[in-house]
Amino acid sequence: MASIQSIPTKPFEGQRPGTSGLRKRVKVFQQEHYTQNFIQATLDAIPTGAKGATLVIGGDGRYFSPEAVQMIIRIAAGNEVAKLIIGQHTILSTPAASHLIRIRKATGGILLTASHNPGGPDNDFGIKYNMSNGGPAPESVTEKIYEITQKLTSYKEAQLPAVDLSAIGTQKAGNLEVEIVDSVADYVVLLKDIFDFNLIKSFLHKTPSFTVLFDGMHGVTGPYGQRIFVEELGLPQKSVMNCKPSPDFGGGHPDPNLTYAHDLVERVEKENISFGAASDGDGDRNMIIGKGAFVTPSDSVAIIAAQADSIPYFRRTGVKGLARSMPTSTALDLVAKKKGYEHFEVPTGWKFFGNLMDAGRLSICGEESFGTGSDHIREKDGVWAVVAWLNIIAAANQTKPSSINDILLTHYNEYGRNFFSRYDYEEVESEGANKMVDRLRALVSTDRAQLIGKDLGNGFVVKDGDDFEYTDPIDGSVSKKQASWQSWDCSFLMDGSSVLGVRIIFEDGSRLIIRLSGTGSQGATVRLYVEKYESNPAKYQDKTQEALRPLIEVALKLSQLTEFTGRKEPTVIT
Ligand code: G6P
Ligand code: ZN
Repeated sequence: MASIQSIPTKPFEGQRPGTSGLRKRVKVFQQEHYTQNFIQATLDAIPTGAKGATLVIGGDGRYFSPEAVQMIIRIAAGNEVAKLIIGQHTILSTPAASHLIRIRKATGGILLTASHNPGGPDNDFGIKYNMSNGGPAPESVTEKIYEITQKLTSYKEAQLPAVDLSAIGTQKAGNLEVEIVDSVADYVVLLKDIFDFNLIKSFLHKTPSFTVLFDGMHGVTGPYGQRIFVEELGLPQKSVMNCKPSPDFGGGHPDPNLTYAHDLVERVEKENISFGAASDGDGDRNMIIGKGAFVTPSDSVAIIAAQADSIPYFRRTGVKGLARSMPTSTALDLVAKKKGYEHFEVPTGWKFFGNLMDAGRLSICGEESFGTGSDHIREKDGVWAVVAWLNIIAAANQTKPSSINDILLTHYNEYGRNFFSRYDYEEVESEGANKMVDRLRALVSTDRAQLIGKDLGNGFVVKDGDDFEYTDPIDGSVSKKQASWQSWDCSFLMDGSSVLGVRIIFEDGSRLIIRLSGTGSQGATVRLYVEKYESNPAKYQDKTQEALRPLIEVALKLSQLTEFTGRKEPTVIT
């Protein structure tokens, strides 16, 4: 029996997790006792207690993961946890961890990730707790963790030699059972059960001109991509790139968008690749592109919902409902209306989908921030979205040759096109940004009467406008300005407005939304979302930025963004 010691410590400030856990620089986590304190507090906050618990452990493999896992093993043993199920070499994508928690009926899981944030000794590390449903811990639990961190005086640790994290199988660490599992195997079984792998495989085999390139961005999805695209679907090895997880993501920024996934974007254009896809550091985000084609995340979720019949999982379970975050385009609503599905509009953040799924009212959902997923787990799922698209394309090709652009066009012809774009103004001065948002809030509340019916220029007449609020239909909890604090990717205090935003809806269905990001770490990030509905088929192939220009002009004029922030141009356009 290993001896258990109580190690004296003192509280650290700022260990308040957001829904995406505690995210800080690696150097912060490396302070003596800092990480151990947070692990002890997490174990203490487990609603059913740490004693006798089974926990799933793994993450995106970023720098400091092996050290953190060894700490978790020693502290778990010190707190009489019964069993740890650990991804080999610390690797488990966020979706794979969510799935493992569910199939092993674990008490919960500790995920070591800072998502798409860069890694390495000078970048970020993160620790996040997920519950037995496989989803991120709710605020009641994360607040309890925080409360405990503020008064912790010691943590319990078993004196154990380091566990070999490469050896698959079960071993004993003192009284603690440690099972090291293949990081990929269970997840592959899940996807093979959800999608029609035979159909995809035979399409790819029969159509060698349809080329695929998956970019793991040096993050966690590399081994998943290798197993699924190369070994299961039989694609050539050159169909995957950057598929070896690296502690610093090859020095890159593992976020799948047109800016950060530039290697992929370049190769797709240069090599005429039919289907390009990428996922982020921890595997929950996704991007789908093709030569001359880009699928906006808003269109992606709408098309997956519209084509759900081609996916065996949804044929089995039926589509119980659809949901999107508020800024995500309303393309999904059009599918819901046509097909008669219930649909929901929730604040920004994946956790708002979880309650609806657990209540059996939601099957498919997505966010404009490159998150797409379903009720197969309780996290968004990058590789799932990529395979969903391959399944849809393979099904469409049974009747006629269909590229990504053909699928988009067919969808627009049936539903119309919701042109959508997001402008980000990063690291602006908080004061100006807050003043701008406060003024907009006044416009849609106290000054509402003057706003409704007003022509804001270029023919955009205001139909409605508000400061978005949300009442969870399952538990009745209310998210509204200052009603609660929420912060997804960071650990400092925010007011509730970061998951909400000001929205203005026009007579023609166009929308304009402004909110402040809840995930930035320097100053404020203003996000401006514009959406314009188009039902004239002659315009379906227009360029997004051109189609949206008149509305963007209205947005900039109404918000006085340049006056308040000093910015003439956005830093990122997606
Ligand atoms: C995280 C969450 C997403 C959410 C996004 C919003 O990535 O997991 O669910 O959409 O943050 O970020 P923002 O910076 O816009 O607040
Ligand atoms: Zn992520």
